Amino acid sequence: MTELIRLTPRLLAVGELVPPGARAADVGTDHGYLPVWLRQRGVCEHVIASDIAPGPLEAARASARRYGVTGVEFRLCPGLEGIRPREADAVVIAGMSGETMVSILESAGWDWTGKRLILQPMTKRAELLTWLYGHGLLVREEKPVSERNRLYWVFLAETGEAPLPRPAHLWAGFTETAYAHRLYRQLERSLAGMGKARQPDPAELRRTEELLEDMKDAYGW
Ligand SMILES: C[S@@+](CC[C@H](N)C(=O)[O-])C[C@H]1O[C@@H](n2cnc3c(N)ncnc32)[C@H](O)[C@@H]1O
Repeated sequence: MTELIRLTPRLLAVGELVPPGARAADVGTDHGYLPVWLRQRGVCEHVIASDIAPGPLEAARASARRYGVTGVEFRLCPGLEGIRPREADAVVIAGMSGETMVSILESAGWDWTGKRLILQPMTKRAELLTWLYGHGLLVREEKPVSERNRLYWVFLAETGEAPLPRPAHLWAGFTETAYAHRLYRQLERSLAGMGKARQPDPAELRRTEELLEDMKDAYGW
């Protein structure tokens, strides 16, 4: 009997946002665990697993073999360059910096209507969200996931018109988490540091003060 793959909480949260029956593409698949999970659970009949580098793609092929999975197509390409829009209605990009995600989405130039973007940035959440809201996309769902003492954000984005979220939501989360509290304390410390600096950057000072105020208001502190 073939072994069932088990995902860690971060990748599981990503996988749970792929709707049953979707044609999914996992961009930057690396080990290929997500496509294997989607196939084993019967979530998707066909998954494209892509990566910019041959080594990770080979690892993904090995995972499919190990778990006895078919229906995964492997593509060596940067971002969405080797994938046509009609081939995927759920696009997953996980475990990369927010900047890389923006550059992948930007250079794809797809019409995102009817697509579901499942994004798990490692950094730069505010930059990624700002890009989404500036390009006719919005966040339908945000899942904070804790794994090995680190908090990860998983976003489900779809097309829709909405104003740019308030600073607290952009930087610290749509809901109050331990992360928001930590960020608040960190910002307070950097504000104190700026106060002691000989020539503090006035724009940076104002931005930090505004974010602190907005966090208090947004989370009712
Ligand atoms: C840290 S791994 C994340 C693997 C998996 N998605 C996850 O979340 O566990 C990042 C992978 O993205 C790939 N990658 C980085 N930039 C990429 C790009 N522009 N297009 C496609 N793949 C990329 C890397 O080769 C690497 O295999």
